[in-house]
Amino acid sequence: PTPKSLLGRKILITAGPTFENIDPVRFIGNYSSGKMGFALAEEAAKRGAEVFLISGPVNLETNYSSIYRRNVISAKEMYEACREWFPACDVAIFAAAVADFSPDSVASQKIKRNNDDWVLHLKANPDIAASMGQMKKANQLTVGFALETNNEEKNARRKLNDKNLDFIVLNSPNNEGEGFMADTNRISIIYRDGRMEKFPLKSKKEVAADIISAVEKIL
Ligand code: C5P
Repeated sequence: PTPKSLLGRKILITAGPTFENIDPVRFIGNYSSGKMGFALAEEAAKRGAEVFLISGPVNLETNYSSIYRRNVISAKEMYEACREWFPACDVAIFAAAVADFSPDSVASQKIKRNNDDWVLHLKANPDIAASMGQMKKANQLTVGFALETNNEEKNARRKLNDKNLDFIVLNSPNNEGEGFMADTNRISIIYRDGRMEKFPLKSKKEVAADIISAVEKIL
């Protein structure tokens, strides 16, 4: 890649977890750190892209003037922000660990402890990647992630199809140095033609460069 190989390109990136409120002090969340998504945003910005970074709650900063960051909390907010920005983008990379479900209703007061058990009713959140996949125009490219604990390849191939992605990045939280909190990651990329490309364990920065290079090859 040349330093400005993505000049003139607009790239949407989702990053981090989403938090789904239960009451004013509690939420459903996950352990995503946002590191992979932020590394992707910085790599794309370095190569000259205008980056639209939609981030769930994370403890990360970015210092690039070409990264426009919007902070969101819930899956619903992330979805709305994507709907707003995606139509103008050439590429979208869905690196966020979006909560699949959120509480049916949010209690306005802190829920008190009373009985021995408590049933929380959840409803499905919008699938952002799948929804953008449906809106996708011929000149747009979308990339997703699959973090699987079992049947990794089979599930990833199904998601590639279901979400109408151009490629999917497969990683596993089972192995040392991979997944949510780690600074390193070992990925495989599965393309629409069925090809699978395996990469060794690398820093998330290096992994981001591999993913952005894979995007550039298709663009
Ligand atoms: O279906 P699953 O959650 O495993 O798919 C993961 C991929 O889909 C990731 O790229 C993730 O960012 C995206 N996704 C999404 N919206 C959801 C769930 C997942 O964009 N509600």
